[in-house]
Amino acid sequence: MKFQKKILCIGAGYVGVPSMAMIAAKCPDCRVTVVDINSQRIDAWNSAELPLYEPGLEEIVYKTRGRNLFFAKDIENQIRENDIIFVSVNTPTKMFGTGAGMAADLQYWEKTAREILQYSRSPKIVIEKSTLPVKTALAMERILSSAKGKITFEVLSNPEFMAEGTAIQDLENPDRVLIGSRETKSGLKARAELAGIYARWIPEEKIITSNIWSSELSKLVANAFLAQRVSSINSISALCEKTDANIAEVARAVGMDSRVGSKFLNAGIGFGGSCFKKDILNLVYLCNYYGLPEVANYWESVVKINEYQQERFITNILGSMFNTLAGKKICILGFAFKADTGDTRESPAINITRRLLTEHAEVIISDPKALTNAALDLADEKGAIAYMEDPYRAAAGCHALVILTDWDLYKKLDYKKIYKSMVKPAFLFDGRNILDHNKCFEIGFNVYPIGKPALSHFVKQDC
Ligand code: NAD
Ligand code: UGA
Repeated sequence: MKFQKKILCIGAGYVGVPSMAMIAAKCPDCRVTVVDINSQRIDAWNSAELPLYEPGLEEIVYKTRGRNLFFAKDIENQIRENDIIFVSVNTPTKMFGTGAGMAADLQYWEKTAREILQYSRSPKIVIEKSTLPVKTALAMERILSSAKGKITFEVLSNPEFMAEGTAIQDLENPDRVLIGSRETKSGLKARAELAGIYARWIPEEKIITSNIWSSELSKLVANAFLAQRVSSINSISALCEKTDANIAEVARAVGMDSRVGSKFLNAGIGFGGSCFKKDILNLVYLCNYYGLPEVANYWESVVKINEYQQERFITNILGSMFNTLAGKKICILGFAFKADTGDTRESPAINITRRLLTEHAEVIISDPKALTNAALDLADEKGAIAYMEDPYRAAAGCHALVILTDWDLYKKLDYKKIYKSMVKPAFLFDGRNILDHNKCFEIGFNVYPIGKPALSHFVKQDC
């Protein structure tokens, strides 16, 4: 079959594959190829067992794979063959040299730019899909225009706003698609070409365009705003615990103001995931770089509150369990950074588990999708850890249940049965506020939610 457009994506990860699978599904006349330097990942994408869990992704990959969606290893050849190239490689926090612990590590991205330059034999549109510091496109352009030949490259910014766990819904029906370009004739033409692809399934009013720097910056700012809401509500949860106010009631009352909105106001153990922290730190680094320390400090406090919230949670577990966890069995329900994903990058569960192990607790970790990643994250731990997918088996014989991921499954467990199988007094720390706390208290648990009064049988006896 002759395809209308030949599209390549470099980076077969959490963003590259779902976003390309969606384009392939919606544009059968486009050939979409995804490449990666990790050849095992490509093998897995070509196999019956996909390398990552994302609801709805399997169906869409099976529908398009081999039809107009391909996973390939020959990066050189694919760069040559395709006309539109998305770059969706990882941009983690830099861990060395200048900007260590703050700036984005751009080595993977720059390697890609150099490869595009080296292997291209015809004009290309190169699209930044990765989240990048503002002004990265300038560096991309400089690399791509450094060759003496006549090949032209047009760089666009098209940041991705999907969230894990809801990626397919978000890609199918996004709040908006943002395309930034140079405002030159060729820049506007490339912008229109990319907009035309999205217009195949997204209403035109949702496809917004801007100058390239606004587009790059908007992605960092969008994540910073979302994370800031989580830190804002978490900071107030600490005050609720001191004042007998209830964070769920406060969040509902505040969020019903249409100017505020109700989303992203769930208090918990703090945000995780590969992006919020890294993107805010990147923003902080940029603000300092441009001589704006007050702005940098403002955004850095969002990360500090996130760390404080986790610390409070750990201190609360220790304090409530008579200041000793040594030899006690603690069941962790959920290790993924959020529900409906197996991703554990920056999951609060990593730090919390390590801290429990430092106290010499015995930890049993349960999660429906993230146990493989959990075992990798904790591979260097010497303490007592067991992994059990079945939550009932994991909880049996434990002193405490600690809920760290908001999996729907945990809302529906038989807590009476679990309580019976546990050591008494049994403790329940709901780090996601997903359970019916009164019901759990009536069953017999000592219940410690976030931002709500604890329901403790000891307090009752003391009165
Ligand atoms: P990921 O680690 O899952 O995938 C990146 C892939 O790029 C890896 O498989 C890696 O092997 C590959 N890669 C690195 N260098 C390469 C090279 N030179 N050639 C070919 N392949 C190369 O990362 P991700 O979660 O998909 O994130 C990618 C980007 O998208 C990041 O900038 C991230 O901030 C951004 N983003 C992520 C999400 C998300 O939900 N994960 C959402 C929006 C934006
Ligand atoms: C987030 C953004 O929502 C996406 O728009 C963005 O594209 C993506 O980051 C990215 O750039 O990587 P994601 O991290 O996948 O998506 O998931 P979120 O739903 O945003 O959750 C992030 C963290 O915040 C999770 O740990 C979640 O449990 C926590 N959270 C979220 C709360 O604690 N409370 C809330 O009310 C909402």
